Amino acid sequence: MRLDFKGRSFISLNDMDKEELLYLMEKSAEVKAGKHKGFLKEKTVATLFFEPSTRTRLSFETAVLQQGGNVFGFSSSASSSVQKGESLTDTIKTITGYCDAIVMRHKIEGAARRASQAATVPVINAGDGANQHPTQTFLDIFTMMEKKGSLDGKTIGLMGDLKYGRTTHSLLIALSFFKVKLVFISPKELKMPEHYTDFLKTKKIDFEERDLLDQTAASLDFLYCTRIQKERFFDPMEYERVKGSYILDRESISLLGDSTYIMHPLPRVDEISEDVDDDQRAIYFEQAHNGVPVRQALLGLVLGTIK
Ligand code: CP
Repeated sequence: MRLDFKGRSFISLNDMDKEELLYLMEKSAEVKAGKHKGFLKEKTVATLFFEPSTRTRLSFETAVLQQGGNVFGFSSSASSSVQKGESLTDTIKTITGYCDAIVMRHKIEGAARRASQAATVPVINAGDGANQHPTQTFLDIFTMMEKKGSLDGKTIGLMGDLKYGRTTHSLLIALSFFKVKLVFISPKELKMPEHYTDFLKTKKIDFEERDLLDQTAASLDFLYCTRIQKERFFDPMEYERVKGSYILDRESISLLGDSTYIMHPLPRVDEISEDVDDDQRAIYFEQAHNGVPVRQALLGLVLGTIK
């Protein structure tokens, strides 16, 4: 069945249903397999990054250029007129006249929604504060499905900073579309916020919360790691006490099963040691590379150039 995404903004996973997510995954697989070519020709995409980014901005830009489109934007607010005091709304009302779609990252939760209300072209949220990062979730789900097919019946561990990690918040909502079991592994200070665990209860999604990575990790299909954000701890001693428990190295990955894939949205700091990179279960760079076809598919659907 064809779904029509044309002209639509993508701000939150809460705005989507399972059928739409699976349709996007299907189109992403087609794009990755080379079925659609040059479909962003004569389209112009603005990438407005008010916060730093490597993967999201550059994979969006690669996505557009590879499909024959044009891209412009900025990589920090310092080089825009926001620096002179211009409001977000005025910035968006201006740029909406220069492009066919806007991709935006901003430190304020809700900024992408506000931008979508001011724009006359689709706005894609590339991360808004600790809230949501929907396109990261799209490539995460795509990578999981590439590795293990349907997510029904899978057990997924989310480890690290579950309180502030926007990638885990978007991912949790997408995973709730499937019959999954979730295992949250974090220090108590950085637990998954209650409104997300309440959401899982209403959706009858099985989940458990653990302080540490332990023997039960062998049953995970995926372990999705995130950076422990040192800057969020009031007590530096507390950070020192817990941080080692969330570092994956050659020793701790022995707790994982033979088919437990290790994922991470990146950037990492020290939570996965580099000597894990050549383990066949470590798929975080492959995951990052999937950002290109998935973002291409999303832009093609939103701009109505693939069906
Ligand atoms: N995963 C992710 O959002 O990476 P960047 O911050 O580098 O874009």
